[in-house]
Amino acid sequence: MSRAAVVCGLGGALPATAVTNEELAAQLDTSDQWIRTRTGIGLRYVVAPGESTSDLAVAAGERALESARRTGNDNDTEADVDLVVLATSTPDRPCPGTAPGVAHRLGLGTVPAFDVAAVCTGFVYALATAASMITAGVARRALVIGADTFSTILDPVDRTTRAIFGDGAGAVVLRAGESSEPGALLGFDLGSDGGGADLITVRAGGSRQRSTGEPPAEGDQYFAMEGRPVFTEAVINMSESSQRLLDRVGWTPADLDKVVAHQANVRILHAVGEQLGLEEKQIVVNLDRVGNTVAASIPLALSDAAAAGDLVPGHRVVLTGFGGGLTWGSAALVWPDIEPVTQP
Ligand code: UT7
Repeated sequence: MSRAAVVCGLGGALPATAVTNEELAAQLDTSDQWIRTRTGIGLRYVVAPGESTSDLAVAAGERALESARRTGNDNDTEADVDLVVLATSTPDRPCPGTAPGVAHRLGLGTVPAFDVAAVCTGFVYALATAASMITAGVARRALVIGADTFSTILDPVDRTTRAIFGDGAGAVVLRAGESSEPGALLGFDLGSDGGGADLITVRAGGSRQRSTGEPPAEGDQYFAMEGRPVFTEAVINMSESSQRLLDRVGWTPADLDKVVAHQANVRILHAVGEQLGLEEKQIVVNLDRVGNTVAASIPLALSDAAAAGDLVPGHRVVLTGFGGGLTWGSAALVWPDIEPVTQP
């Protein structure tokens, strides 16, 4: 038995405005049929004017704390949260980080709070960071949030990215515990390949462009993605990262009850399942209802699966993500007895 970070709360939040494929098709040269067949997505949510990433992060954070309270398997309260890690690549402002403001609005006092920028892998990176701080004895109880509002950085005329991405936030509470407990994070596999940095990017707005003293070239302020190579890299890296982690934890793919992979495209999820030799029932899918919510994707998929009873206590679970950077990462745990709190 050794000290471990244990998942004890789970929450999610979506903005109020849903955008259907038909609504997109009324604005852009696309169709419900193309989007469903090529991506599996039917619906995504977008923030209202003036709403930002921190608003969703606060809502998801509140709900994860409420979920931890309901789980009530320890005597701690949210007053005992001593770390906030926020995964996002759509911060409220370029500077400062968004996490301190989120911690402040949640009434968590002067706890350490910082952002992690690993795009769609952000939640797994944030989870690994917070878990490591807990096992190192630097923190006892952490709120880990993944939140993004990609609708604010998409090119309004880019039919491909607008079809895929949606806004949202998801969060978990981690507490110090033992590796033998359900909910204990049993291991991680993390990686990156900066050689692929240009495949998923916002070209303007950072020091590289600003130091030129020139205004950004038209369109460079928007998110840009090269879909096909990203698709291939996503399949390879989520499959290989999951397999490395399974080997480390001592599980086979057949031992797994659920893989909760980053929800980018249902064809990617099926291809990862094929690479790992999984059956369809082992793969969690919720992108049909929310699209690709970037750092929120994995915790929102967990919330949906747990709320629907597809993910139950005792299930052996691997989380796996892939995104800009390029970055990838996986985590393994046995699902704990917790009640997720999502939309009211
Ligand atoms: O979250 C981080 C990681 N991101 C991902 O993992 C995303 C990975 N990539 C993908 O999911 C897919 O590559 C996309 C969904 C982005 C694109 O699907 P695809 O099957 O790879 O399409 P494509 O880019 O190869 O384009 C095929 C055709 C093109 O038309 P032509 O050149 O063949 O005439 C596109 O212009 O589909 C066209 N197309 C569309 N048509 C209707 C692209 N987007 C749309 C659209 N509606 N929304």
